[in-house]
Amino acid sequence: MKLTVIGTGYLGATHAVCMAELGHEVLGVDISEERIEALRAGRVPFYEPGLAEKLSANLATGRLDFTTDIAAAARFADVHFLTVGTPQHSEGRSADLSQVHGAVTSLVRHMQGSHLIIGKSTVPVGTAADLQLMVSALAAPSTEIRIAWNPEFLREGHAIADTLHPDRIVAGVPGDDAGYAENILRDVYAATLAQGTPFIVTDLETAELVKGAANAFLATKISFINAIAEICDLSGGNVTDLARALGHDDRIGRKFLGAGLGFGGGCLPKDIRAFSARAEQLGATGIPALLGSVDDINLGQRRAVLDTVVRSFDGAVAGRRVTVLGAAFKPNSDDIRDSPGLFIAGSLARIGADVTVYDPQAMEPSKRVLPELTYAPTVYDALHPTEAVVLATEWREFIDLDPVEAACHVDRPLMIDGRNCLPARAWIDAGWDYRGIGRRY
Ligand code: UDX
Repeated sequence: MKLTVIGTGYLGATHAVCMAELGHEVLGVDISEERIEALRAGRVPFYEPGLAEKLSANLATGRLDFTTDIAAAARFADVHFLTVGTPQHSEGRSADLSQVHGAVTSLVRHMQGSHLIIGKSTVPVGTAADLQLMVSALAAPSTEIRIAWNPEFLREGHAIADTLHPDRIVAGVPGDDAGYAENILRDVYAATLAQGTPFIVTDLETAELVKGAANAFLATKISFINAIAEICDLSGGNVTDLARALGHDDRIGRKFLGAGLGFGGGCLPKDIRAFSARAEQLGATGIPALLGSVDDINLGQRRAVLDTVVRSFDGAVAGRRVTVLGAAFKPNSDDIRDSPGLFIAGSLARIGADVTVYDPQAMEPSKRVLPELTYAPTVYDALHPTEAVVLATEWREFIDLDPVEAACHVDRPLMIDGRNCLPARAWIDAGWDYRGIGRRY
């Protein structure tokens, strides 16, 4: 099939490459010349394991190309994926839909004949129905444009596998679809469906809500275990053992019960806020109350770690040396959006601490947003000679650190393991004052 992918950020670049990988002819479109130039040259403008190789391989087949020319996209195909960003509004918690409206308006202006626009971006419920009214009003005479919604659930660091082998495909189609959009989506994903992937057909509103609900549930699970970690801290329990025991109940499951600094990144935080804001607009009370607490608990985790550092210096942090290991919001990513590690590093620097940061992938983006911090070239340089270490991202390089060797570099062996990822006993045995989140060992 011939497909376009409008918006080549994290989601769109991955989707375009993976659709070509499935055998489709794909044209990726973006307004950023720089981004399109990079992608055409086989360079991925962010870090995602395996994506650069797949990009180059698919460019070489001739099935994949990129352009800034939206008119060319309207001519190239009659099936268009919409993958532009929906960031948090600069004022308030709701989603900023300006990229969605901008992309659709400019695409529709060039369309002739029958077209299907399939939204993948995370949007507030009701957006697809509004877009249908908008495109119908803008369409040229004898041009029919339909909207469907096919939310993405991909995780950074696993983007290719999540796109090629998703847990499920949700096809949100209009009430009067009569199989039109559904059949196109079945054809697009034929190879994936042949692997037995569940295909769930819903109305547009449900498809939009599935994504919001999935994110809300994941975020709730993380804040739930962090709330339990607080009780463990106060009572002497161990949240890691507790989560293992909970996880054996398959109604609960072990995944996303990792206590620590909580969730960050470009998706979960802004998505739960937008979901909650939209629920509130609709007059719902349950989700705003629940997600308000989830967000508060999550942000409280960062403040608690910050407090632990400050208290370790009896409140006098000015001029004290602190190391933050991990600036990416999670491992296998260079994404620093809403990064707990950088929040802690930046907050400590603002109150006068001498903060050094090291991350295996996210140094350049971090330097751009927080140039006032010190950036060390290696993990051992970052430790030398610090007085407190905060481990903020569970990179394999940090998990594998030798606590005996690490102790030789520091001035004061205080390790705050913000991801509960270190073998605590080995660190304690090597002389470290080890502090986990909801566990002392
Ligand atoms: C998330 C959703 O998983 C994905 O389905 C959606 O499409 C986009 O948002 P992503 O942002 O890539 O994906 O990150 P994810 O792997 O879900 O992790 C989110 C955050 O939660 C990270 O900061 C991670 O460190 C944190 N987390 C995760 C925990 O604190 N504890 C856990 O047990 C799991």
